[in-house]
Amino acid sequence: MKVRVAAKAGFCFGVKRAIEIVKDTVRGNPGPIYTLGPLIHNPQVVASLAEMGVVEIDNLKEISNGTIVIRSHGVSPEIVNEARVLGLDIVDATCTFVRRAQELAHDLTEQGYQVVVVGDRDHPEVQGIKGWTGGKAIVVENPAEAALLNKEAAYGVIAQTTQPLENFNSVVEVLRGTGAKIKVCNTICNATSQRQQAARELAGKVGMMVVVGGANSANTRKLAGLCAASGTATHLIETADELDPAWFNGVNTAGLTAGASTPDWIIEEVRRRMSEIEEQNGPEQEEEMKDAVEVKAVRPGDIVTGTV
Ligand code: F3S
Repeated sequence: MKVRVAAKAGFCFGVKRAIEIVKDTVRGNPGPIYTLGPLIHNPQVVASLAEMGVVEIDNLKEISNGTIVIRSHGVSPEIVNEARVLGLDIVDATCTFVRRAQELAHDLTEQGYQVVVVGDRDHPEVQGIKGWTGGKAIVVENPAEAALLNKEAAYGVIAQTTQPLENFNSVVEVLRGTGAKIKVCNTICNATSQRQQAARELAGKVGMMVVVGGANSANTRKLAGLCAASGTATHLIETADELDPAWFNGVNTAGLTAGASTPDWIIEEVRRRMSEIEEQNGPEQEEEMKDAVEVKAVRPGDIVTGTV
């Protein structure tokens, strides 16, 4: 059996940046330091930050002093104001691509467009973007929901940064069909589209796919969905311990990819465990291949630098 790693997999620019910002904040700050929700959707990374003293809260009302880090998903202006009123120090780790989507949503609303956000309505990034429209944006998850919208004179369409391009384009087509004036702002980030394209391509060439990432990570679940949609057996796991050797029976080539919030050290552990399963399956199956990505052995707590 061969193991192939997707050409683009794992930490994206925005996640790396957010982790670096938090670590810098820890170094120069006596604390307490909080994040509103998990900094990224990966329990193992969040646990390593907790060991450094970073405390996750669900609501600003839980605290009265210290530093609040705004995570890469961003927040609404109301939450920023609430933090200011409480007198908290604010460290903003909003990803620059999410910031762009927030600004576009705000500007489109100012220009009189009915903003439509294509995304998961419960996702914090989408909730934050909606806040930048004063709560006026409509969220649709798919073309079927777009078809149910009341007709507006003008739609401004933007995407959750992790949306599959096909879903975004399908929603835009439905809205074009209404005859309304349409302004389309594709705010899907490169890191997302590159990882989705690489996962789709790899899934089409292998007998089984392993997708690594937090169970609460939307972009990881989307990667798994795209791989499964290609007809290839797909398994979504958080850590190497969840790999089941039975999945590899009869598989000549297995593929491996990971969500944008999955650190390199977890990808490396999964790849290593897959290689061990190869060896257990027989010496003739020891060949290993990688498409392109270089997976470095990095440990929890390391700062990972580089670009997407
Ligand atoms: Fe930013 Fe894209 Fe990552 S929006 S946080 S670079 S998935």
